[in-house]
Amino acid sequence: MRIPDPFTLIIFGGTGDLSHRKLFPALFKLYFQKRLASSFKIVGLGRRTYSDEVYREQIAASLNEKIESDSERERLTSFLEHVHFQPLDVSKKTDFKALQDRLLKFDKNIQKNILFYLATAPAFFAPVARELAALNLQKEVEGQQWRRIILEKPFGTDLESANILNTELLACFDEHQIYRIDHYLGKESVQNILAFRFANGLFQPLWNRRHIHRIEVTAAESLGVEDRGGYYDHSGAMRDMIQNHLLQLLAVIAMEPPNQFDPDSIRDEKAKVLKALRPIKGSEIHQHVIRGQYIGSKIRGEKVPGYREELNVDTKSSRETFVAIKANIDNERWQGVPFYIRTGKRLPTRVSEVVIHFNGPGHQLFHEQSGDHLGENQLVLRIQPDEGVLLKFGLKVPGAGFKIAPVGMDFHYSDMNADDLPEAYERLILDALVGDNTLYARADAVQAAWKYVDPILEYWRQHPNTKLYGYPAGTWGPPETLSLFENTEEDWRYPCKNLSSDDTYCEL
Ligand SMILES: NC(=O)c1ccc[n+]([C@@H]2O[C@H](COP(=O)([O-])OP(=O)(O)OC[C@H]3O[C@@H](n4cnc5c(N)ncnc54)[C@H](OP(=O)(O)O)[C@@H]3O)[C@@H](O)[C@H]2O)c1
Repeated sequence: MRIPDPFTLIIFGGTGDLSHRKLFPALFKLYFQKRLASSFKIVGLGRRTYSDEVYREQIAASLNEKIESDSERERLTSFLEHVHFQPLDVSKKTDFKALQDRLLKFDKNIQKNILFYLATAPAFFAPVARELAALNLQKEVEGQQWRRIILEKPFGTDLESANILNTELLACFDEHQIYRIDHYLGKESVQNILAFRFANGLFQPLWNRRHIHRIEVTAAESLGVEDRGGYYDHSGAMRDMIQNHLLQLLAVIAMEPPNQFDPDSIRDEKAKVLKALRPIKGSEIHQHVIRGQYIGSKIRGEKVPGYREELNVDTKSSRETFVAIKANIDNERWQGVPFYIRTGKRLPTRVSEVVIHFNGPGHQLFHEQSGDHLGENQLVLRIQPDEGVLLKFGLKVPGAGFKIAPVGMDFHYSDMNADDLPEAYERLILDALVGDNTLYARADAVQAAWKYVDPILEYWRQHPNTKLYGYPAGTWGPPETLSLFENTEEDWRYPCKNLSSDDTYCEL
């Protein structure tokens, strides 16, 4: 059990959606499990002029929706005593000074260690860092006081803006103080990929181009853009999912074993993978990247709007809600192994998983009865929901002859520790409080990921006529993604069938 030192957590955007839906539930869970320090304070910030009491009522209302047991309810009041509110407008220097004055009134041991959580629009990241540094609030004293800053996603909108943001942050904080969040890395099932790969003698020797034929990485969402149309129409699937979550996940799957299990060794290896991604440029983009956008359809008999009909979305928008990429990693381990990455909104189900396709046997002994492809073993690492590991292999159908049928060994994390997999934000906040940045993205990795996706985004910008395929809501995206595969018999894994009544697609 890692218990943090006494601390103050200051949340910029303490009245926002993320704070209510994710941060406070995670903090309360940690408190309930006695994983926070003996003394601490949480200060929410925002332009509103709430008193501590009003703010506590609001936080209590959000937490009450999630609280399941009487024992949790009993501890809510004592948790809320640690919660405070301080009005602060990022554009007002005097508000930062007032924040500093308030901090000085806290107990000495609490005001020493401060975690700043920037749950605000990214445009505020650099200005907040500058104001904190101007008041010396970022200053650490080795062995006596620490100061850390967590930044929400997105980290930049392209390579240039990410570089500028990094430079601005590094003018105020040291790299070891900066925690760039990627909540995918906080997922228990993603961390378990490390354990699965490096704690087992069985799979480690197979994890390379000699035994692996191809790898799929899928992050499918069943919802559309909901009320985030305004944000999404400037972002799209490439920025929202691929540049951060899916490339970070790919790095965990493909990294070399680190020499030691410490933050820098792990982050070094992850960054190396991202730097080894083969750039996709110019006309190659057509062979390697397919983009799509959902169109109106019916799902289980109910009408669902197309992307262009969503609230705050341009009716002529060419923003991609689906991307599939064939990626290659130019290093000794992965030369020749394609990585197929896909993500999209309004797909048939919500699922994130990695599928490792192993090579079949050299000689197909049972070809006559069973065809060629039953020998291909698949390992499915399910990230969400129903986290687990599924190993698929062929066995003989009972009875006469030698017909081979696929079977599976299926492990569910829910079987391991009842139902209590920690939420990503619980793990990530606790890690930041104890100073462990292993699961946070380092500047060079963020930069390498932008370097990979930037030429694609730039190509789309310069060539607006690049095909944007429509796919009916409730289907697995444009069928053109099959053109990415090297072999006509290859396909994606479909965890469930199309839900749309309309199986056709159209070009937008
Ligand atoms: N919501 C999510 O599920 C989610 C998921 C992943 C990442 N994120 C990221 O998290 C960040 C916050 O998202 P959100 O959905 O919570 O946004 P939100 O609901 O719009 O909240 C924005 C927060 O910023 C505060 N704020 C706005 N202008 C301010 C100013 N001038 N000075 C001080 N505070 C100001 C608002 O408080 P006042 O109105 O009181 O000023 C509010 O607390 C964004 O970077 C977003 O990309 C969110």
